[in-house]
Amino acid sequence: MSEILEIIQNRHSSRYPFDPEHKPSKKDLMQILEAARWAPTAHNMQNFEIVVVDDRKHLMELGNIKSKISEEFLRENYQQLSFTEEELIQKKVGILGTMFPQSWRTPDDWEKVARESESSSLDQTIKGSPMLLIVTYDARKRAPASEGDVLGFISLGCVMENMWHMAQALGIDFQIMSVFGADSVEKDVKKTLEIPEYMRIAYAVRLGYSISKPSKFLRARRDLEEFAHYNRFENTWFV
Ligand SMILES: Cc1cc2nc3c(=O)[nH]c(=O)nc-3n(C[C@H](O)[C@H](O)[C@H](O)COP(=O)(O)O)c2cc1C
Repeated sequence: MSEILEIIQNRHSSRYPFDPEHKPSKKDLMQILEAARWAPTAHNMQNFEIVVVDDRKHLMELGNIKSKISEEFLRENYQQLSFTEEELIQKKVGILGTMFPQSWRTPDDWEKVARESESSSLDQTIKGSPMLLIVTYDARKRAPASEGDVLGFISLGCVMENMWHMAQALGIDFQIMSVFGADSVEKDVKKTLEIPEYMRIAYAVRLGYSISKPSKFLRARRDLEEFAHYNRFENTWFV
């Protein structure tokens, strides 16, 4: 039991460049896919298809796809930032701003960043990863009576989490890349990988081994009593 909790607590987003020459083994990849296979999904619909991309040609083609950053993204991203580790530890939610370029943290620069991002490409996100998983779903179907297919999206999250924990257990670095599901990017990714029109991209994953990384990651989370309620919403949890 404690091993599961340890994997959950140590799982983290690996945002550092990966070694392009160090690909996860086929055996490890199969275990990650097996973890996806057993994910819970609404009505057991298993409404997902995963495209594994590891050949250089396709990785290069994906890397060349343009990914534009909007001012809206920069503004909403900024709202989630802490500017020092101490601030994040105190706030307990959000992410560390220092992982982004200075210009993303400077509201006066946003217009320029958004304009110049016209020419930025996905390889800045893929960062040398030798293997990507593109997680797609059939948008023509939805979980029964699930408004906006919320239950379907939760299911895709379960797939994500199962794969992430397995990767963590195998010592493989893992990062979600939501940008693959953004309208303009999604269109080009689908074309490159010949993904049928009716499929949508939920997210993509970078899999690999970071070239360098800190020995310890900052794990900022709320305490139990800040989100758990006891019997009635107004009763905070007691330990
Ligand atoms: C639905 C979803 C989308 C995410 N999209 C991204 C993303 O595009 N890029 C990224 O670096 N991290 C992404 N993340 C990772 C979160 O930022 C991360 O899980 C959170 O900051 C907590 O950090 P940790 O994963 O290191 O515990 C995403 C996570 C989820 C669940």
